[in-house]
Amino acid sequence: MAKPLKTKPKSSRSSPQRPRIAIAIMAAGKGTRLKSKHPKVLHEVGGKPILAHVIATAKKVVPARDIFVIIGHEAERVREAVAGTGVNFVLQAEQRGTGHAIMVAREALVGYDQVIVLSGDAPLITAETIRKLSDFHTLQKAAMTVLSADLDDPFGYGRVICQGAGGRAEGRVEVQAIVEEKSATPQQKKIREINSGFYAFDAAALYQHIGRLSTANPHGEYYLTDMAGVFHRARQKVVAIKTSDAGEVLGSNTRAETIVLDARLRLAKCRELLEQGVTIFYPHTCVIDSDVEVGADTVIEPFVQLLGYTKIGADCRIRSYSVITNSLIGERVTVKPGTIMEDSRVGAGAVLGPYSHLRPGSDVGEGAHVGNFVETKKIKMGKGSKANHLSYLGDAEIGEDVNIGAGTITCNYDGVNKHQTVIEDGAFIGSDSTLVAPVKIGRGAYVAAASCITEDVPADALALGRARQSVKEGWAREKREAQKERNR
Ligand code: UD1
Ligand code: CA
Repeated sequence: MAKPLKTKPKSSRSSPQRPRIAIAIMAAGKGTRLKSKHPKVLHEVGGKPILAHVIATAKKVVPARDIFVIIGHEAERVREAVAGTGVNFVLQAEQRGTGHAIMVAREALVGYDQVIVLSGDAPLITAETIRKLSDFHTLQKAAMTVLSADLDDPFGYGRVICQGAGGRAEGRVEVQAIVEEKSATPQQKKIREINSGFYAFDAAALYQHIGRLSTANPHGEYYLTDMAGVFHRARQKVVAIKTSDAGEVLGSNTRAETIVLDARLRLAKCRELLEQGVTIFYPHTCVIDSDVEVGADTVIEPFVQLLGYTKIGADCRIRSYSVITNSLIGERVTVKPGTIMEDSRVGAGAVLGPYSHLRPGSDVGEGAHVGNFVETKKIKMGKGSKANHLSYLGDAEIGEDVNIGAGTITCNYDGVNKHQTVIEDGAFIGSDSTLVAPVKIGRGAYVAAASCITEDVPADALALGRARQSVKEGWAREKREAQKERNR
């Protein structure tokens, strides 16, 4: 018969069945080495803030209510940028080091058994690795577990010092201390096992001992890394677990490091899409943000950018040099080269480009065509309608099967206000027409080429808005002959 579970105090270290786990994300630092006016954790990789990646991964491990982001430098900007994720925030008003960041979070973390600490500037960490770190920590009944990694170039990272002169022996996990680059001896600098900046702590032990951290180091800061030595001296267990993929722990302290992370994320994104049945030619030339979705059998040509929350359906072809931001594209859509789209929507089977510019609020219906040098803004264009050449269509409601001739312009702006143009189903707008809004072209009506339309056109009518053509017979011949006469 199974033994009944004993109830234990929440903060007990004696491995409760399901430890209550909190994740603290340190994101209060300035990021001096980036030489930027923007806080480090808001720099973007893979098309979104570094911190947003870390939060998204943390949310795969624990619910948002158990995530605490420690903010400080430009706290309000950082909070605003990620507030939508539903996490909690802790203010570290003065940034006195990573140890200090965790001291400040003390009250917020009351009631948890285990605290996983993540660095807000290391966005490649995976949920799987965080879970491994947490499980290993629970299994080892340790006070502190360090996620470590072997790096070919460990420069700049804290080094993990294991017991015994020979460093970490086979299978041995116990850690004596973590030494920062600036304080390391030449011998310690040769150690390739680095501290990733990710840890699991026993919450009770952490806050029982954190007061022993000091600022006696080259930066004059409270280093969280010093908890390894503090625990070791207090005969509390400190262990390390190595990641299988050292790339996961890379941080972004400099611009050079940031672009490395960005390239890694984007290549990983391409691999994920290839895996899902999308063809991407020359993937290293494409810029695809982390949250983009693409349907199977869609082909993406070289030098395409798919940004933000863009979603593309199946069986599309996105041709080179197109830049598509926060847009929804249905199935079987062809986007010809050089098309720019933002906050727009395109129905199945539509054809765009080459060189179309869909500005925010463009809604292009199924099977519609928007062609060369056509600019649209805040329009709804119905099924099967076509604007193939050289037009500006803004603030317009265009019905189904409408033909917009080359060079048509909706004059939507009077210098103060914007006005609406309505073109009903089946209307035909002749080339080079200007439609002065507010104006309505009725169902099935014709607008003669080169018309300037200032008044509504009823359904099925023909509107001519241009001067009548006059012809002067023989005028050209007479002009030529007069010229010849003068030259004689
Ligand atoms: C830290 C570790 C180092 C490790 C490396 C891994 C320390 C002392 N060193 O160094 O051993 O190899 O990470 O990437 O921890 N932060 C705060 N409040 C502060 C200071 C920092 O929230 O007062 C945040 C930063 O915003 C950043 C994170 O903590 O997201 C790490 O700080 P950072 O200055 O980048 O530490 P490293 O020098 O990279
Ligand atoms: Ca860092």
